Amino acid sequence: MSPIRVGLLGIGTVGSGTFNVLKRNQEEIRRRAGRGIEITMVADLDVARAQALVGDGVLVVDDARKVVASPDIDIVIELIGGYGIAKALVLEAIESGKHVVTANKALLAVHGTEIFAAAQRKGVMVAFEAAVAGGIPIIKALREGLSANSIQWIAGIINGTTNFILSEMRDKGLDFDVVLKEAQKLGYAEADPTFDIEGVDAAHKATLMSAIAFGIPVQFDKAYVEGITSLAAQDIRYAEQLGYRIKLLGITKRVAGGIELRVHPSLIPAKRLLANVEGAMNAVVVHGDAVGTTLYYGKGAGSEPTASAVIADLVDISRLHTADPEHRVPHLAFQPDEMSDLAI
Ligand code: NDP
Ligand code: HSE
Repeated sequence: MSPIRVGLLGIGTVGSGTFNVLKRNQEEIRRRAGRGIEITMVADLDVARAQALVGDGVLVVDDARKVVASPDIDIVIELIGGYGIAKALVLEAIESGKHVVTANKALLAVHGTEIFAAAQRKGVMVAFEAAVAGGIPIIKALREGLSANSIQWIAGIINGTTNFILSEMRDKGLDFDVVLKEAQKLGYAEADPTFDIEGVDAAHKATLMSAIAFGIPVQFDKAYVEGITSLAAQDIRYAEQLGYRIKLLGITKRVAGGIELRVHPSLIPAKRLLANVEGAMNAVVVHGDAVGTTLYYGKGAGSEPTASAVIADLVDISRLHTADPEHRVPHLAFQPDEMSDLAI
């Protein structure tokens, strides 16, 4: 079967990670997906930089609409970010019958109702594993792994930048602004880092988890949102002396008469697992009525951890929506005739 052709919009931190991982692990990914997955077109404002990253074999353009409109593209990956051009491009891709993969939690938390409705009308997927908790497959866990449960609550450290800032301030006594700059340099922060430090990014992610867990529309406007900008170094020190750590938590839970959705700094006893999630790591705790409490932990931001989730969506779409029927049931992930001959 011919490879699935992917158009990548935006080859920055996550886009370049996606291109590199897809290339490095192409053979294993091909066997899992049931067919090859190739990025054949890239759009970025800086064409020269993008062309240098992907090499001569890939067509690079500066107008993302050309990728979206191309009849030679099956799946569009949107990694530009923001609500502006990204929204128009995602809707145009859907209208032209293309599946979409995006890491853009801001877009989906604010315009998700419109976007998912458009996708449903056209019968295409909008997949967004990378939008919540970076490399942790939390969307899959909520949607598939925990689908037997009535979810009672979710609480998590779901913003890598703020967790990195709080950890570095506590451990190294560094200033807020210095650590924020470092988080930007490491590719953790949003293009507008106020989204991170004011809790907005965590609220975008909590909104998406809430919608999946409780079967409600995305309602970011209803979230209570408080970031870490009013915290001083001495708050962190005092908390430590009292046996607590301060973490920015995203929480959503069933309460009498509805659902609660909030993001704010919280005091967590130093011995608890969440208190010991450091740096840009994320952790999400989900409580289901059947399974009890479960914990998901991993890198919540950065180039390749996020690329891991983007590519997982590409594999899912390839296998479930475009591959031959015999590739659709992943008993062992690989088909018997495709298994590696590595010895145990
Ligand atoms: P970057 O800013 O690193 O990358 C965005 C890229 O898109 C840049 O190369 C930019 O070019 C390009 N771009 C901007 N406008 C256009 C346009 N109109 N047409 C084509 N290309 C354009 O962002 P990230 O990779 O960090 O983030 C991408 C998305 O992934 C965002 O939605 C973000 O929230 C999300 N995300 C990011 C994570 C991370 O750890 N970084 C983790 C999880 C999700 P130029 O630089 O020239 O402006
Ligand atoms: N800015 C985000 C964070 C990127 O720091 O968690 C990952 O979504």
